[in-house]
Amino acid sequence: MTEEFVRQNQKGYDSGHDWWHIMRVRKLALFINEKESLADPFTVEITALLHDTADSKFASGNSEQGYELIRDFMEKGGMSDIMDRVLNVIKNVSFSNKNKTGNTDDPLLLVIQDADRLDAIGAIGIARAFNYGGFRNNPIYNPPDKEDEKSTIGHFYNKLLKLKGMMNTPTGCKIAEERHKILEKFLEQFYEEWEYGLIKL
Ligand code: ADP
Ligand code: NI
Repeated sequence: MTEEFVRQNQKGYDSGHDWWHIMRVRKLALFINEKESLADPFTVEITALLHDTADSKFASGNSEQGYELIRDFMEKGGMSDIMDRVLNVIKNVSFSNKNKTGNTDDPLLLVIQDADRLDAIGAIGIARAFNYGGFRNNPIYNPPDKEDEKSTIGHFYNKLLKLKGMMNTPTGCKIAEERHKILEKFLEQFYEEWEYGLIKL
């Protein structure tokens, strides 16, 4: 039931935020939670499924409408008891959300946030970044400015490479170590190929 609701709402998002992102976050969150026993698995699963439903980047810039949709869905689905907790996590999970309110120490938030951030790094993270950049028609790279705000390579420096140091849980940290190495390897190869382009044989 929750799956169907999320599927319907996720349509129209870019494919880096699609149903499969939700599936990966669910799997990662349940895995981290199993290792660390931080919250009840059902609540973890529901929150992972709903975590992007109200994303303001896609919900016509209006998160409130998304929250209302989730509230309505949870009440009808007999989940009123966990509704406030789930909504608090959804409101605080985003990297870009700077006006954090409510309880930011909830272990449930720590798990979901790690899972969501892990999906932004590693091979899948790279694929998602360029997919998002394409969706916005951003340049791949604006040399020589590696931290350029607009380019997708810039996004690596402004966000992706920082995520490893922002993990909340030891399990998240471990997975992030591996995925971070993939980002570094990718950048190394990227610049190497970029330079080759300048060599006349
Ligand atoms: P959050 O929902 O945690 O704030 P975002 O929605 O900003 O995260 O990011 C979701 C995905 O889109 C991530 O994989 C992220 O790397 C990618 N993304 C976001 N902004 C950019 C950007 N400017 N360039 C490339 N990828 C981006
Ligand atoms: Ni997400």
